[in-house]
Amino acid sequence: MTSYPKINARRLLQRIADFATIGATPAGGVNRQALSIGDRTARRRLAELAVARGFNVHQDAIANLFIRREGRDPSSPPVLIGSHLDSQPTGGRFDGALGTLSAFEVLEALEDTGVDTERSVEVVSWTNEEGSRFSPGCMGSMAFIGAGDIAGWQDTRGTDGARLGDELAATLKALPEARMRPVGHAVSAFVEVHIEQGPVLERAGIPIGLVTGVQGTRWLVVSFSGEAAHAGTTPLEFRKDPMAAAVAAIAQLQLVVMPADPMARLTVGRMSVEPSSVNVIPSRVTFTIDIRHPQEDVLSSIEAQIDAECRASATHHMVEVHIEKHFDLAPGKFDVAIVDVIDNACERLGVSNMKLVSGAFHDALFVSKVAPTAMIFVPCRDGISHNEAEFVTSEHIEIGAKVLLETALSLARGPILNAP
Ligand code: GLV
Ligand code: MN
Ligand code: MN
Repeated sequence: MTSYPKINARRLLQRIADFATIGATPAGGVNRQALSIGDRTARRRLAELAVARGFNVHQDAIANLFIRREGRDPSSPPVLIGSHLDSQPTGGRFDGALGTLSAFEVLEALEDTGVDTERSVEVVSWTNEEGSRFSPGCMGSMAFIGAGDIAGWQDTRGTDGARLGDELAATLKALPEARMRPVGHAVSAFVEVHIEQGPVLERAGIPIGLVTGVQGTRWLVVSFSGEAAHAGTTPLEFRKDPMAAAVAAIAQLQLVVMPADPMARLTVGRMSVEPSSVNVIPSRVTFTIDIRHPQEDVLSSIEAQIDAECRASATHHMVEVHIEKHFDLAPGKFDVAIVDVIDNACERLGVSNMKLVSGAFHDALFVSKVAPTAMIFVPCRDGISHNEAEFVTSEHIEIGAKVLLETALSLARGPILNAP
C-alpha cells in the first residue's frame, strides 16, 4: 500500500538556503532580477532537480517554466502550484522562491511515496513577477492568460539598458532540456504559497493566511521636462526646473493621498535626473509612482489627483509634464471553493488560519481570471519584504508546504471546480 506523502522539511529548508546562494547579496538577500544570469541559474538548478526526479520540464515563449508529474489521466487539466524565482534588486530570499520551492517539494513528496493522483500536478515558475528590471511585472502570468504582448515587449529596455528580447532568448536557450509549449494551457486550479509581506499574520500569531483577494495596483511614470541651464547664473524667474516641479508635486501627493485614506498606498520608488550633473539645472526628471487600493474607483480618483497635482506643479514651474501608465492591475477576488479546500486542508492538519486580502500583487491574480485560484500566506518577520532582511521561520515554511501538499492532493483527486 502506498503511504501518505509527507513534506521533507529538511530538504525544503536546504533547497531554500541553496537557491539563496544564487545572486546572493552581501546583506543576506538576493539580486536575481528577471532574465538575468542569476535568474537563469536558478531556473537551471530547478530544471536539473526536476530531470533528476524524472519529471517533465517545459517552457513557453515568455520563459514560464513548468515541471510536470503525470497523473492517471494526462488529458485532465493539471493542478498548478508555484510562484516565481526572480527577485527585486535588493530582494529577500523568500519572495517567490518560497512558493516555487515549496511547490517542488510537494511534487517530490508525491514522488517519494509513488502516490497516484488523478490529475497531473505541475510546478510553475512565472517569468518576471517583480517588474523591477523590465516593466511591467507579472509578464509570465499575464501572457499565460492571453493578456500580455510578448511581441510588443521584445524591445523593452531594462533598468540596465538590456533589451528584453535578447535576455529572453538567452534565458530560453539556457534550458535546452525544456520542451517548448504554447503560451497558456487549461489548468484545473492554481495555488500559490507566498510570504505575506506585511505584518498581519505575525501580529495575530497565526501561521496561515487564506488569501481571499488582492488589492489593485497602478504604475505611472511621470516625466517633467524643463530647460537645462547653469546652476550658478540662472535666476529664479529664468529657471524651467523640472526638479522643483517634481519635488513639489511629490510632496503635495504625500500630504494628501495616504493621510486621507488609511487603505491607500503611494510610493515614489525610482527617479532619474538628466543630465544629472551637480551644477546643471536638470532638463528632465522622471519618476515612478506605485499606487495601491482595494477599490478600483478609489485608484481612479488617486490617479486623477496625481494628474491634477503634477499639471498644477508643471504650470507653476513653467515646465512640461507627461504621464504614462505602465501597469494597471484591477483588484481581484480569489475562488471561494479553492479557499475552502485550503481551509479544510488546514483543519485536517490542525493548523489555524485567518482570511486576508493581499497588499502585494501576485501572478495568482492574473491566473485567477482563467482558472480557480487562491493563495496561501505564511508570516514573515516584522512584515518586512522587498528587503534583504526578509525572514520566515523554519516552522512556518514547513506548515506552508504541508498545507500546500494537502491542498494539492485534494485538488488533484477531487472533482474539477468551475472556472471563474
Ligand atoms: C509585487 O512584487 C508587488 O510589488 O506587489
Ligand atoms: Mn512575490
Ligand atoms: Mn516581490
